[in-house]
This record gives sequence, C-alpha cells and structure tokens, in this order.
Amino acid sequence: MSATSALRPVLPPDIRARKGQVPLVVLTAYTTPMARLVDAHCDIALVGDSVGMVLHGLPSTLGVTMEMMILHGRAVVRGLTRAMAVVDMPFGSYEEGPAQAYRNAVRLMVETGAPAVKLEGGVHMAETIAFLTRRGVPVMAHIGLTPQAVNTLGGYKVVGRDAEAAGVMADAEAVQAAGAFAVVLEKVPVSLSARITQTLAIPTIGIGAGAHCDGQVLVVDDMLGIFTDFRPKFVKRYGELGTAADQAIAAYAQDVRARRFPGPEHGFADEAPKGPQS
Ligand code: KIV
Repeated sequence: MSATSALRPVLPPDIRARKGQVPLVVLTAYTTPMARLVDAHCDIALVGDSVGMVLHGLPSTLGVTMEMMILHGRAVVRGLTRAMAVVDMPFGSYEEGPAQAYRNAVRLMVETGAPAVKLEGGVHMAETIAFLTRRGVPVMAHIGLTPQAVNTLGGYKVVGRDAEAAGVMADAEAVQAAGAFAVVLEKVPVSLSARITQTLAIPTIGIGAGAHCDGQVLVVDDMLGIFTDFRPKFVKRYGELGTAADQAIAAYAQDVRARRFPGPEHGFADEAPKGPQS
C-alpha cells in the first residue's frame, strides 16, 4: 500500500501534495496484468514510451506512435483501481506547438482514461506546458536526459554536469512555473538533483538521479530482470524474471520433446465428470 489516500484513485493534486513527504513510488506499466501488480504498491503507473523498446523491440522511443500509447494506456487504466496512470506523449505529437500538443494530449486522456500526460523538455516546452495546464491537462514534465532527443544529445548520457547544471536548473524552474504537477529528472548528477529538489515546490521523481528526489521511477521490466543482457548502473534488480522464464520455457520444451507433457491430468476423458466441470 502506498502513502497516498487508499480511499479513491490518486489524482495530480495528490501527487503535488506529496512534496517532501514519504517518497513517491512510480513504475512503468504497459499491460493490464502488470498494471494490477503495480496498482497494489505504487502511486503512479507510468505508461512510458519506453514501451517501444521494451515490448516492441524498437531501437529507441522515436518510432512510438499515438496509436501505440493509446492501446497500452487503455490496457493499463483497465488494471488500476487506485494508482494514477500517466501516459507519455510520443515523439512528434507535441513539439510543433501548444495547439498540436493540446489536441494530442486530450486524445490520450479521452481515449485512455488517464488523468495526466508526460512530455519531455524544459525551458523550450514551458509555453506548451502552460497552455495545457491552463486548459485542464495535468502535465508531468521530464528533463535531464530526454530519450526522445537521443540523436541531438548524442546518446543516453548523464545531463547536468559542470556547465550544463545551470541549464537543467533553469529547465526545472521553467516547468514548475508553467504548471507541471511533478517533474522527472533522468540521469541528472546526484548533487544537482538534490539542489533541484530543494529549490522546487513540486515533487521531483528521479531515474538515475540519486536518493534526494521526492520519488523514484524505474522501467518495471528492468527492475524485474526480464532482460538478462541489459544492466544500467541506475537500476537495482529486484528479480531475475528473465532467467526464471528462460528456465521455465526450457523445461517445457524438454517435456514436450520427451512426451512428459501433457500428462494424464491435463487431458479430458470421453465421459463428462459427475462433479463440478473442469
Ligand atoms: O518512457 C519511460 O519509461 C520513461 C521513464 C524512464 C521515466 O519516461
């Protein structure tokens, strides 16, 4: 059970009010069964555009479409009773300007039922964030390493070291002033994320940004260890589900080849049983 109210679904003002309180717990989710698991323990289920890489095998998040976000957003919302869904705005769906962003954010909210969206960018997205928040679209901002800008950044690098620090601080202040209810800090140096967290009145949610943030987010497949060959430094693995799944599939394959599966207990008799049907 998380620290936000257990009596009704969590909404953006509840998240905003958690500044400086018990840390916010956020995981990604892309499917209904995973949303159910996340719902039991987390404050936010983030339908991240990481879905493109995690579930669809894309090389980056750039190929993710509105249709993909709507499909996965709907699936996640169906699995939630209390945690809040936040749906990522995909690359190309908001950068043209406030009107395009508003149109697509409303589509994401209406077609998924999620009460909030997330978009990447700081100072240069502040006008768009203000346009959305003044019109009933709660926005979670995302600064530091912004994966949709991987090609201009030149890789998935730490953002905010040395001379870059002032720019990341300015981004944080700009998204807050524009009305964001929370901000994700990705791969920001620990001392800078501590300073941003101290400076802002809205919660910071870190990923690879140290322990001082007001909350933490991870890609659920990473922390469950579903990928055996992907171990970023900032991820703590709480499970080894990839290895467990590999062992289970290998055992199934051996059983089928050796005719050990299915056994008599998995088959159906000619005559219907007398008791409750199985
Ligand atoms: O898409 C995503 O999963 C994200 C998190 C990594 C913050 O944006």
